[in-house]
Amino acid sequence: MSKVTAAITGIQGYLPEHVLSNDDLSKMVDTSDEWITTRTGIKERRIMKEGASSDMCAEAVKGLLKKTNTSPDEIELVIVATVTPDYPFPSTSNVVCDKVGMTNAWGYDLIAACSGFIYALSTGAQFIETGRHKKVIVIGVDKMSSIIDYEDRTTCVIFGDGCGAALLEPNEEGYGVQDFLLHSDGGGRKFLLQPGGGSLNPASIETVEKKMHYVHQEGKQVFKFAVTNMAEVSANIMERNHLTSDDVDWLVPHQANLRIIDATAKRMGLPEEKVMINIQKYGNTTAGTLPLCLWDYESQLKKGDNLILSAFGGGFTWGAVYLKWAYNS
Ligand code: UT7
Repeated sequence: MSKVTAAITGIQGYLPEHVLSNDDLSKMVDTSDEWITTRTGIKERRIMKEGASSDMCAEAVKGLLKKTNTSPDEIELVIVATVTPDYPFPSTSNVVCDKVGMTNAWGYDLIAACSGFIYALSTGAQFIETGRHKKVIVIGVDKMSSIIDYEDRTTCVIFGDGCGAALLEPNEEGYGVQDFLLHSDGGGRKFLLQPGGGSLNPASIETVEKKMHYVHQEGKQVFKFAVTNMAEVSANIMERNHLTSDDVDWLVPHQANLRIIDATAKRMGLPEEKVMINIQKYGNTTAGTLPLCLWDYESQLKKGDNLILSAFGGGFTWGAVYLKWAYNS
């Protein structure tokens, strides 16, 4: 019997309507379109004015079920990667299942910041490969605007809100997840974290006054680690799967900074036309970036294309997934 792999059989994104441009931000903090564009590649991002992460997930999942002709009650497992859950508990997965009517599913949330989607995809794939489940949804979502200080120019220009959801199903022709290489280093938490609101610093008047519920990032430090590790892990997964740059059809990189993406592509020996980029439209949507890239580029993907998904984020967490695309759209 041939080995069962976990294939992505559908992908759907959701973005809030409200657009926050670099010019809008330059009226809120001391910044400029020129600074943001040259340092990050971002021109605008989406902001969710009302609602929660689960609402973005519900919209993406409804679209996904429709386009894959799947009924909500067929879904067995929903994994939501996010750092902006609706609540500390219950999980956003529970809420999404309720909102979409996925009454036969169980699920959980997973925190791996910007690496969330590759962690969720790798984890979800295990339930398919073992034969335990036949239909699994993995979601990357973040409503970053709920934890960003719009008086801090070093973070508010970077992040945006967005969501992407993928359906995973068994495949016996060899398509789908081929390999994953994931890493973490908790020592990096001091450079990128949300210090308040958890069990270490529970919400109090003091934590709010000290703005501890916002993202704190030492950008330069994070940049150094990101640029090295994202390039390294991408090269490593190619090497251990004996892939040359000619074999790789697409790099699907986390969209944190165009300079980090360029360095990763260069290390992999890939020309820019093989690199998915949508950072200019959405900024850094944390766990949302990779599925949103797949969604944006879906019409250009062909069955059998070799994709390397690669990310680096808070934790630190980083890694890469080697995926064989399973369908023509
Ligand atoms: O997504 C997960 C992980 N996160 C990342 O991968 C992000 C990694 N880091 C980065 O992408 C970059 O470090 C940033 C985009 C965050 C910052 O770019 P940078 O080139 O590293 O800038 P910097 O922090 O070294 O700051 C350079 C200057 C500073 O001014 P001085 O000290 O040179 O006078 C900052 O105060 O730019 C200033 N600055 C700004 N100026 C205008 C910082 N933010 C802004 C801003 N507008 N928004």
